[in-house]
Amino acid sequence: MLALRISFLLLTLPAYLQAARILAIFPFPGPSQYINVVPYLKELAGRGHQVTSVNAFPQKKPVANFRDVFISKVFDNYNELVNDLNKPMNLWQENNFINKFFLDVTRCVLTNKEVAETLLPPGKDHFDLIIVEAIRSDAYYGFAAHFNAPIIGISTFGTDWNIDELVGNVSPLSYTPLVTAGLTDRMNFAERVSNFVDTTIAWLNYKLIHMPEQEKMYAKYFPEASKRVQLTDLNRNFSLVLLNQHFSLSFPRPYVPNMIEVGGLHISHKPAPLPKELEEFIQGSGEQGVIYFSLGSNVLSKDLPEERRDLILKTFASLPQRVLWKFEDDKLPGKPANVFISKWFPQPDILAHPKVKLFITHGGLLSTIESIHHGKPVLGLPFFYDQFLNVRRATQAGFGLGLDHKTMTQQELKGTIERLIKEPRFGQIARQMSERYRDQPMSPLDTAIWWTEYVLRHKGAHHMRVAGQDLGFFAYHSLDVIGVLLGGALLIVATIVGVLWKAAKFSGLGNSKKKQKTK
Ligand SMILES: *[C@@H]1O[C@H](CO)[C@@H](O)[C@H](O)[C@H]1NC(C)=O
Repeated sequence: MLALRISFLLLTLPAYLQAARILAIFPFPGPSQYINVVPYLKELAGRGHQVTSVNAFPQKKPVANFRDVFISKVFDNYNELVNDLNKPMNLWQENNFINKFFLDVTRCVLTNKEVAETLLPPGKDHFDLIIVEAIRSDAYYGFAAHFNAPIIGISTFGTDWNIDELVGNVSPLSYTPLVTAGLTDRMNFAERVSNFVDTTIAWLNYKLIHMPEQEKMYAKYFPEASKRVQLTDLNRNFSLVLLNQHFSLSFPRPYVPNMIEVGGLHISHKPAPLPKELEEFIQGSGEQGVIYFSLGSNVLSKDLPEERRDLILKTFASLPQRVLWKFEDDKLPGKPANVFISKWFPQPDILAHPKVKLFITHGGLLSTIESIHHGKPVLGLPFFYDQFLNVRRATQAGFGLGLDHKTMTQQELKGTIERLIKEPRFGQIARQMSERYRDQPMSPLDTAIWWTEYVLRHKGAHHMRVAGQDLGFFAYHSLDVIGVLLGGALLIVATIVGVLWKAAKFSGLGNSKKKQKTK
């Protein structure tokens, strides 16, 4: 027994010896991006790696092997920016808006005092691996060149043409819609045209507006690294991209070997028991069960227009079910007895509860994944970004319905809730999706950890990188080949036509001309 234990220790020892220094950069000011990755970062720390995490939501209690670098400045303009999002914009302006937003976030990171003092000075620290939020923040990918370390990207929204470029993946425009478009993989001709045009606009904007700005910033804050490595080479050299997506949640699509789906990374394996007061409220619902209502962490229910809030409240009051409402104020005037409000709910544990029948959600990706994980139907009230797409997918898959929160009437809201609870097919499809999603060889978290350590074990795992990353635009799309072949064919046709023309001149045509002259 002791021998066994010793040999086990010896076997696991190399893992400890290889403990790596990891720099993680997730400064996005909305909480859900960080909620998605923090269990993964903590798990890496738990496995003995030294994690330095640059973020906007530092840990409340100290975590072993885990250092927070708090970027408080990202919140300065955040609310203003979220308000700006509601202004009407054309696609070009929308892209400029997104660029400006991420340029701001990137600048907040690179000008942060602790970053400037401990991470940016050459030779001051070293890291074996950089993990970043892969979302239009190219300048801080410079840390990979700065520390000469491999870089891993995590994308909370799955992939698109932009994330693809990090590893040379392909998303055929004919069946992979832009995340913001609210389209599905089955597009009609008009939708394919719009997807093509929108993607082209986004691509042009990225190359012409976004990259020059990011390159300036890269040169400014990484003066030494930027002389050695171009940003456009760096952002095509990711070792791995982890996607918060899964084919059972969205649709099947192709991936290169270093792009891995880990959708639901944040869901812990076993639900915890609920606080006593909450459990009693849920149990008190009897046969009717409970509806859980939350608009996530970015949209606050307390900021809904009063008239909208009233409509929702009256609808809830008229239901036989009990309702849990994530409401961010202490008081909800006119709150009926069947509604329980709280500023925070242990969402996954609530969705795991058998008495919870329906989730009314803003349709954020994390919430959507959690509801599928626990097999609960959804009523989607989308507000922005990918939420429209997620709700549309839930409707298409048949485990949910969507409403426009701005225009819905009380009858519509009540009718939709009743349909979702009474018609068994919504619950059945939700449970079927749950079974498909959970049927994976390893949990998303274990998968993410395994691939991350794979990159460490193989010093960047460069062998997974597709050769397409080293080709220019023309060669990649075979435009040079098509050009030569088409040019060659045209040359041959032109030669034949020319020869025939000459031949015709000497014989028939020449004769007829002569005849005309002699007349
Ligand atoms: C690309 O990554 C590999 C390994 O991660 C590294 O050796 C190489 O220097 C990198 N190249 C560039 C241009 O960043």
